[in-house]
Amino acid sequence: MGLTTASLLGLAFALYGSRVDALVSTDGTTGRLPAMGWNSWNNFGCNINASVFEATAQKMVDLGLKDAGYEYINIDDCWSDKQRQRDPTTREIIPDSKKFPNGISGLADKVHSLGLKLGIYSDAGMLTCAGYAGSLGFEAVDAATFAKWGVDYLKYDNCYVPGNWSDKYSYDVGTGQTNAPFDYDWATSNTSSRYQRMDVELQKQSHTIQYSLCVWGEAHVERWGNRTGHSWRMYGDISPTWTRIIEILNHAGSFWKTSGFWGHNDWDMLEVGLGTLTYEESRSHFALWAALKSPLIIGTPLGGIKDDILGILLNRELIDFNQDPVYGASAFPYKWLLNANGTSDSTHLAQYWTGASVKGIHLFMVNTEDRPVKMTAVFSEIPALSGQGGEKFVLHDMWTGKDLGQFSGTFSIDVKTHDTAALRITKLDGTHPNPSWTPPAV
Ligand code: GAL
Repeated sequence: MGLTTASLLGLAFALYGSRVDALVSTDGTTGRLPAMGWNSWNNFGCNINASVFEATAQKMVDLGLKDAGYEYINIDDCWSDKQRQRDPTTREIIPDSKKFPNGISGLADKVHSLGLKLGIYSDAGMLTCAGYAGSLGFEAVDAATFAKWGVDYLKYDNCYVPGNWSDKYSYDVGTGQTNAPFDYDWATSNTSSRYQRMDVELQKQSHTIQYSLCVWGEAHVERWGNRTGHSWRMYGDISPTWTRIIEILNHAGSFWKTSGFWGHNDWDMLEVGLGTLTYEESRSHFALWAALKSPLIIGTPLGGIKDDILGILLNRELIDFNQDPVYGASAFPYKWLLNANGTSDSTHLAQYWTGASVKGIHLFMVNTEDRPVKMTAVFSEIPALSGQGGEKFVLHDMWTGKDLGQFSGTFSIDVKTHDTAALRITKLDGTHPNPSWTPPAV
């Protein structure tokens, strides 16, 4: 039986996890894999200036983060002149000259000279969330200005949307409730249009700019974000607390399918080592964000960063999973242990997640309980191994980079409170147990 075009496309997608309608950059690389970098918002808020970014860029190099794959130094909100907003003649946004004495282009030059890239922030509304000039109606001039300055990445926020741009139907990201008809195409919503307008202008620039939609999951962005940008925020703002991490992960447990090459669900910037997160909670946060193929954008200040926190951010094997060149699909939950009905709840998300990489089948066991727990993986329950449950496998610890031995049937490990065991499973000769398998994608 010959393969039809549709089944060939299906096969290509199953193997490579890429969508046919994705926003593929003309340079062939920008945005194919989840972005990696650093952003000022989570730690510095509006308290930013050129020195913060210059020092961070230098630290990225000195601490080995650049070598590990982190490349973007991203300016978030509050970089422009709040009063003057735009040049009366050119209409270009005016950078705050106190914060950025050499302008954004001066900073871009410094960042580029270290082999890194510069990101900027704007908003698909009248003002940014902190009340600075927004880009709605000014997409052409702003895209050209960012390109002229040498900016390589745009995070595009969703505040101060004027009434005439509000959506026809409502959609509640948390509950999924909507008053839209079942077959409504959210790509035709005003929210989608506001984001598309900037994409159209970015595409006209000769300089490739990675496009990150900060749309908080609204207007079912997972259904159209892939055509419009390289990544799209799927939920409200992260905060450095375990409760919030669990809440986001629970949501990701339902929406993991929409990530693939050239288009990634963005589960928000990393809070590793910040707020009230314990070391173990920071490990879980990083491991799951990597597993979900989320952009890995560090929020931790790099000056004085503790070695153990840096160690999390530099974990080679988790980064390799996130940046896998062959398998684009996200890891996904396959077992909810603590909830009788087999679904997630706000305290106990799925503890058992799995995914595939070029190196093998991976297992992420999250201890959501408030006490250390012995966690057991049953091989026959892992979707990629379901037909091979009786075989012996090599289990490898992605945290330590060491093999843990050969196991058949089950594997158990002690997992500290809120920690995550990150494991790789291969055949005894080190080969992939099921190379043609990837998670079912949309
Ligand atoms: C929020 C956004 C945050 C940060 C903040 C700046 O809307 O989700 O990541 O950019 O605005 O004001």
